[in-house]
Amino acid sequence: MGIEWNSFFAERTKYITGSQIRQFFALTERPEVISFAGGFPGNDFFPSEDIAQTLAQLVREESQQSLQYGPTEGSYELRKLIAKKMTLEGASCEVDNLMIIDGSQQGLDFLGRILVNEEEPVLVEEPAYIGGMSAIKSYGGAACGIEMDNEGPLPEKMITRIKQLISEGKKPKVFYTVPNFQNPTGTTTSLKRRLEILKIASHYNLLIIEDNPYGPLCYEGEVPPSYFSLDTEDRVIYLGSFSKILIPGIRIGWIAASKELIEKVSMVKQTADLCSSTLGQQLACCLSRDSYIDMHTRKLTELYREKRDAMIKSMDRYFPPNIEYNKPKGGFFIWVTFPDHYPDSNKLLQLALDKNVAFVHGEGFFSNGGGKKSARFSFSQPSLEEIKKGIKILGELFYDIEGGSSLQAVGH
Ligand SMILES: Cc1ncc(COP(=O)(O)O)c(C=O)c1O
Repeated sequence: MGIEWNSFFAERTKYITGSQIRQFFALTERPEVISFAGGFPGNDFFPSEDIAQTLAQLVREESQQSLQYGPTEGSYELRKLIAKKMTLEGASCEVDNLMIIDGSQQGLDFLGRILVNEEEPVLVEEPAYIGGMSAIKSYGGAACGIEMDNEGPLPEKMITRIKQLISEGKKPKVFYTVPNFQNPTGTTTSLKRRLEILKIASHYNLLIIEDNPYGPLCYEGEVPPSYFSLDTEDRVIYLGSFSKILIPGIRIGWIAASKELIEKVSMVKQTADLCSSTLGQQLACCLSRDSYIDMHTRKLTELYREKRDAMIKSMDRYFPPNIEYNKPKGGFFIWVTFPDHYPDSNKLLQLALDKNVAFVHGEGFFSNGGGKKSARFSFSQPSLEEIKKGIKILGELFYDIEGGSSLQAVGH
């Protein structure tokens, strides 16, 4: 007889349910599928040769720092470089305010672990990054969505929601946000909104978790100052990452926050993994020196802008005019909204997969239902040709759904 595993799992694991997106990856990763689903960086954009040379040098010449365990809070030199960069960007950040983690996802998990009680509400954007919501839920927290418009989360909705939760005896403590080129909508929260939300946070004594993996990938204009740099009360916890500006394979990111918070996170990290990969940290450190990563990011910006433009141009050309989508000013994602008479987007995804094209349907990004008529399209991984081909195939599918002919697909 097989083992009855559920009887062995700890009570608290009942909250760990996994992500809807991951379940789709098996389908979307078939080689014949053009995938707009994954939010991965473009494989062709990794600076493999420079990485290979730097790693070889690190292993040969600096093995003590690169191959040995390191301090739990992370390499001093790397933290110093990050502190310098964040200070240049207007934040007040010292080495002791920083901790290196295994990508910002680990930060979300740690913050869930130290901040979220069972059945406690945590404010999130509506829609929100699935990995953020999963971290909250896996510790028994309840993600409570705050509606957004194209300037970010709506302050009035936030206040109404907080008041409602307080009246139910469940005052929230934390707001989780991805303010730049949000995953999944591509929205950037305006400066005015950031200031309003900081005021609300101050009034209701909320912490803000600011998750910013996409901010450096800005294709038009400039991103507003971070919540972290605008904050005067130490209530913002900032998550940064090398995943999108260098490679996700080293799993290196950072938390910037008040020293008290960093000390607590450091204790959690000791039990999680002792320290982040020292080889990965040394690589990030070497490549952060001499502005290498800044130059690489500028290159990436050009390359991803081209992909974004190709996807928007193809959508303009091939999608029926009643399908709505935004033009994000950075990041990887375009948010698509279908008219009410369309099938739900999970059904649309099945139809698209039959034609070997994939995207992510909207539902998984909503905390309490919703998203049935929306979808996330990522332009970061497919080639320019695949973007055009895949969007054209979808345009034909959508025109078929309209009951019209795909030949009508000549732009709007
Ligand atoms: C908003 C957001 N936060 C965090 C992550 C995780 O990134 P990392 O590779 O730094 O763990 C992602 C990954 O796609 C993301 O989109």
